[in-house]
Amino acid sequence: MEEHRRRAGRLDAAAALAARALPKAFTPWIEQARLDARMLIDRTSGRAPSPLVSEASAPQPLAELDPLGLLPRGLAERLRAAGRDLSMLGSRLVLGKTPPPLIERPRPAAGDVVSLPRKTPNMVRPLRVVNVVRETDDAVSIYLTEEDGSPLEFQPGQFLSIDVEVDGQRLRRAYSLASPSLPDVPRHITVKRIQDGRASNLLNDTIAEGAELKVLGPSGSFTVEPRAVNQRHLVMIAGGSGITPIMSILETVLRVERDSRVTLIYGNRGWDDVIFRDRLSALCEEFGDRLTVDHVLEDPPEWWTGERGLLTVEILESRLRALQIEDDGLQRYFICGPTPMMEAAHVVLAGRGIAASRIAEERFTSPEARSGARGSGKTERVVVSRAGREHGVQVAAGQTILEAGLAAGLDMPFSCAMGGCGACRVRLEDGQVEMEEPNCLSQAEREQGYVLACVGRPLGAVRVEVEES
Ligand code: FES
Repeated sequence: MEEHRRRAGRLDAAAALAARALPKAFTPWIEQARLDARMLIDRTSGRAPSPLVSEASAPQPLAELDPLGLLPRGLAERLRAAGRDLSMLGSRLVLGKTPPPLIERPRPAAGDVVSLPRKTPNMVRPLRVVNVVRETDDAVSIYLTEEDGSPLEFQPGQFLSIDVEVDGQRLRRAYSLASPSLPDVPRHITVKRIQDGRASNLLNDTIAEGAELKVLGPSGSFTVEPRAVNQRHLVMIAGGSGITPIMSILETVLRVERDSRVTLIYGNRGWDDVIFRDRLSALCEEFGDRLTVDHVLEDPPEWWTGERGLLTVEILESRLRALQIEDDGLQRYFICGPTPMMEAAHVVLAGRGIAASRIAEERFTSPEARSGARGSGKTERVVVSRAGREHGVQVAAGQTILEAGLAAGLDMPFSCAMGGCGACRVRLEDGQVEMEEPNCLSQAEREQGYVLACVGRPLGAVRVEVEES
């Protein structure tokens, strides 16, 4: 076992060093040779490769290996120091640059993972609005801190579920954090006005510095774990306000992973509708060929020379070709935007043979189109069983089972708290539950007796079971 680990480690180190030393065009061959050799090592060590390789047991992708991290620690440290000295000397001799006496902002070290809160704070809490910036006529960025002024912790790409009251009715909406997840960077959500959207209009029209927002989260799994050692290419497709989580991932990755690059195809109606237009231009200037932003406009101004139209299958395919994006088996894809755009992106990526496991997507159902579910209109008793223990909970009129369970101190699973992710799924053992529709529960799950606790209200006495994952 120990010998097998050593041999696999030496092989990974050699492959990672070769990938760094040779031109990028060789990377797919090096990766294939490494995987073949890993299989050989498995066989000769008596470890038959599993016919089904799970993500957890699969070898770490080549692009994410730190060759120095695979060497003995003392040697790795000496090589790192030598590399730093050489690069400093090179900058001074070739470019005439003198390194700054002090590093302005602490940079993550190789292998560091930035900001990884694993558990969603499970109670609604107030956050303070510390700044409000208008991005376009129809979009506003709201800068937030925790109530005591400390920064919000989140993973790039996560969202907050925000409670607002409109005409006496409490509404919950999900808004992605659009700032990079880095120390000392102010955190903000960006809210685009939706026609007839009660919460988005209220926030666009009335939010002001000093206000308080009631918030749950951050949560969501449309995210990355940035590591300084990564060398990867993210291909991102966004439409309209779908840019918000993409923006957070894009900027965090560019700043943390100095050998990674990003290509973004971004669709909007007009030039003035482009959220983060100036910020994207500034990032392009700062990161040079590590960031490519390709704007596609449905209704462009006269001077426009870029692509016109919606992000359809044809246009996406033509943009990927124009940007010379040939899949090398190592790219990761991120898509977020209106449903037709998401479907078109899936068709195009599937047509290019890209496995679903390499595509991350974020979808939000439109809450404005969702039916109200008031439950029985009076307080009901719900028994929640988990791990063989039962807990009785009083669910007040209008409350969801999740809200009542969390208020009673139960550890109940959830993420978006608005019917969009399925994390709060429980099995209905007795009684009836009314759910807000539409939500993400499939017909098969409904037939198997599942309900979503975050949008479910009891219609009488109810018993539910939280299954262990
Ligand atoms: S928490 Fe996401 S569907 Fe309930």
